Amino acid sequence: RPHPASHPQVEDVPLLRGSNCRAKGAAPGFKVAILGAAGGIGQPLALLMKMNPLVSVLHLYDVVNTPGVTADISHMNTGAVVRGFLGQPQLENALTGMDLVIIPAGVPRKPGMTRDDLFNINAGIVRTLCEGIAKCCPNAIVNVISNPVNSTVPIAAEVFKKAGTYDPKRLLGVTTLDVVRANTFVGEVLGLDPREVNVPVIGGHAGITILPLLSQVNPSCSFTSEEVKYLTSRIQNGGTEVVEAKAGAGSATLSMAYAAAKFADACLRGLRGDGGIAECSYVASQVTELPFFASKVQLGRGGIEEILPLGPLNEFERAGLEKAKKELGKSIQKGVSFINK
Ligand code: NAI
Repeated sequence: RPHPASHPQVEDVPLLRGSNCRAKGAAPGFKVAILGAAGGIGQPLALLMKMNPLVSVLHLYDVVNTPGVTADISHMNTGAVVRGFLGQPQLENALTGMDLVIIPAGVPRKPGMTRDDLFNINAGIVRTLCEGIAKCCPNAIVNVISNPVNSTVPIAAEVFKKAGTYDPKRLLGVTTLDVVRANTFVGEVLGLDPREVNVPVIGGHAGITILPLLSQVNPSCSFTSEEVKYLTSRIQNGGTEVVEAKAGAGSATLSMAYAAAKFADACLRGLRGDGGIAECSYVASQVTELPFFASKVQLGRGGIEEILPLGPLNEFERAGLEKAKKELGKSIQKGVSFINK
């Protein structure tokens, strides 16, 4: 028989020799589910995760179109075995046994919308999906992409608390795209290869809550106040730049899939036990008085091993932090009340 984990359509193929080859040759790896896998982010993210050698099983779940996406992705000759799941009745099967669950499900912005305008639809979607996670893979690492991230991560936390499965070390809001953008834009200004640049971005993932720490850029450098203003504004409004350029066809999907795949890979390397992996992420935190905050975290076998200190901020960044905290506090409260109302 074909390898039992292969895509069900393989059942239609006449039996061939070597049906055990995959099982023998397959490297041990992690089981990853993408929820919202047929969407603008989900599809390229599925492609990138199918290319990740740390992934042995890839589950693609959505409420539409997963059979097509799954058939397509499953033909890539990489190690991960791909299975598709369609609609709510298949959610539990999609989640059972997963090590990492990535959530890009939900509606994206159109021009003129803020991320908070998505709350009414996406909050309910994230709640339902997290209820499934609590039931079927309570120990999985969860990467939340669905906006508004500033509220959807607190929503996920409340759902897990209610279910008695909450582990703050395993719940991470994906803010990697802000770092990816910051590295690119800073690289452009300095004339450096963006791969060589590392800009910490703290706070949250919406407008003024996105706080790039330009005083802590690696390699160390200095900026004129004009450059600081330009870079801060461009990083904070990078998402809106894409929404406007797409003119109604959605928000960032390709750069987001790249960022999500990069972050997921860091989480998987952490799970494998690699040392020295630090990424910015929006997590339950005590670095400020707020219950959630994005900053550099160290990843390991249990998810978040340590939340790293913010480091010294200059006056401009301290002022930005105060403004960011005000808005962030409201978004957190909105998420918490959604579950506890
Ligand atoms: P999209 O509309 O192209 O795809 C969303 C997918 O979610 C669709 O395939 C849809 O069928 C699916 N979906 C809807 N309800 C679902 C449910 N109950 N269960 C499972 N799947 C469901 O949207 P796109 O562009 O992929 O964006 C997805 C989300 O990611 C949006 O909320 C967007 O705002 C957010 N986003 C987050 C970023 C970040 O940096 N964290 C950056 C860019 C977008």
